[in-house]
Amino acid sequence: MKVIKGSFMLGVLVLLFSSVCFAGEGPEIIILHASKGDVDFTHWQHQTDLGDDCSKCHADEPGKITELGRDWAHNTCLGCHLKAPIGSKKGPTLCFGCHNKPK
Ligand code: HEC
Ligand code: HEC
Ligand code: HEC
Repeated sequence: MKVIKGSFMLGVLVLLFSSVCFAGEGPEIIILHASKGDVDFTHWQHQTDLGDDCSKCHADEPGKITELGRDWAHNTCLGCHLKAPIGSKKGPTLCFGCHNKPK
């Protein structure tokens, strides 16, 4: 019984720990609003593609980005997409590759 209790507690601890890490990674998809059309930004997909290098977009601690806006996005997001592909992958560079077409 003692052993079962022990492993149950371990399970609870592992669960608690992983949910904390999970929250630290931010949302899976982030909708960035723009008059040109919202951008459905695949946050987790980018984390994976960029080898978990958060500093590609988060200059300081990962979290809210105060500079977020057209200039920041077109420099940071489009700036990377225009550069050499990462592995065989390259991001979109046309307006409606990022912005949802107005319906
Ligand atoms: C390709 C760009 C990019 C990369 C790489 C990236 N993020 Fe983000 N992240 C964003 C953007 C854009 C936002 C939205 C910021 C905002 O709403 O102010 C964001 C938001 C967040 C938030 C805050 C969510 C909220 O609404 O409070 C967290 C936490 C976060 N990211 C964690 C991470 C971590 C951890 C990594 C690295 C493993 C990472 N991000 C890598 C672009 C990126
Ligand atoms: C790599 C993705 C990407 C591409 C390509 C791109 N944009 Fe953007 N654009 C964004 C993001 C992200 C934002 C900022 C959204 C925010 O501030 O939340 C933005 C913001 C804007 C804004 C400001 C909207 C506002 O409400 O302030 C305009 C206008 C705009 N883009 C037009 C364009 C045009 C025109 C093109 C093509 C020539 C283009 N974008 C290509 C990602 C992109
Ligand atoms: C350092 C490089 C880099 C940065 C910064 C970056 N991207 Fe990307 N992006 C990529 C690569 C590489 C792909 C191709 C991924 C794939 O094919 O799975 C991609 C794919 C995309 C796609 C199309 C596929 C998908 O996942 O939806 C969109 C839309 C996109 N990026 C938007 C953005 C926005 C918005 C930002 C800024 C908030 C951003 N990207 C920042 C490298 C980057």
